[in-house]
Amino acid sequence: MIELAEVYKGFTVRDRKTRQKKRIEAVRGVSFSVHPGEIYGLLGPNGAGKSTTLRLIAGLMQAERGLIRVGGFDAGREPEAARACVGYLSGDLNVYGRFTPREFLRLFGQFQGMQARVAEGRALALLERLGLLDFMDVRMEGFSTGQKQKVSVARALLHDPRVVVFDEPTTGLDVLTAKTVLDLLRELRAEGRAVIVSTHVMPMVEDICDRVGILFDGVLYGDAPLDQLLAARHARNLDEVFFQLAGEA
Ligand SMILES: Nc1ncnc2c1ncn2[C@@H]1O[C@H](COP(=O)(O)OP(=O)(O)O)[C@@H](O)[C@H]1O
Ligand SMILES: [Mg+2]
Repeated sequence: MIELAEVYKGFTVRDRKTRQKKRIEAVRGVSFSVHPGEIYGLLGPNGAGKSTTLRLIAGLMQAERGLIRVGGFDAGREPEAARACVGYLSGDLNVYGRFTPREFLRLFGQFQGMQARVAEGRALALLERLGLLDFMDVRMEGFSTGQKQKVSVARALLHDPRVVVFDEPTTGLDVLTAKTVLDLLRELRAEGRAVIVSTHVMPMVEDICDRVGILFDGVLYGDAPLDQLLAARHARNLDEVFFQLAGEA
């Protein structure tokens, strides 16, 4: 459902002090798969390449080398078809404060080419599931971080995507909102969707992820079911694995 083979992506940036151009190799030869009905946890410290990897899967940028298949489509050759399969939640909360959730989701339904009634029905079901139905017609400018995140989650899932790509979905959320989001991810898995989440919250990964990959400096380590990863490294928990790998990387 999601397949990456030897994927590379770098950026050319200008050094702030020296003004010299330099290359950042954000993703270096990454390969892994996420199957339907599976939650893949992509771990790694800040700057490791998690968001870049997820943006590549979501079709927001193109890989420089390697192959990415999403929902059966080649993301390089058929980017629009691949993109249409993906529900992508970015790290930042970009909701428009002057809109209500109903207006905001209606607009995104239009972007996705959905029939207005279908989009409205999906929006209502998702907001109900997320406990936000009472706020459907309230302007979002006064919303809490958690409420905004819930609207972002509803937006990402509006078009009923088979592939779910969530970048740090619980960062900055209170425990109750985080639980709502994690429970929803479990439901998406049970519905047979392929789910990938990035995070640096280890207990969350231990809680919900079937398979784990850990990025350091653009290189993927682990890529195994959690129990296998722990057993292979004689570790009691993911923190221990993380520190071992950090030492090696
Ligand atoms: N659009 C971009 N332009 C230039 N550099 C970028 C861009 N996006 C990411 N990077 C760089 O690529 C590296 C990986 O970033 P990112 O994928 O955001 O990591 P993570 O999500 O794991 O924190 C970092 O060094 C970051 O500064
Ligand atoms: Mg990131």
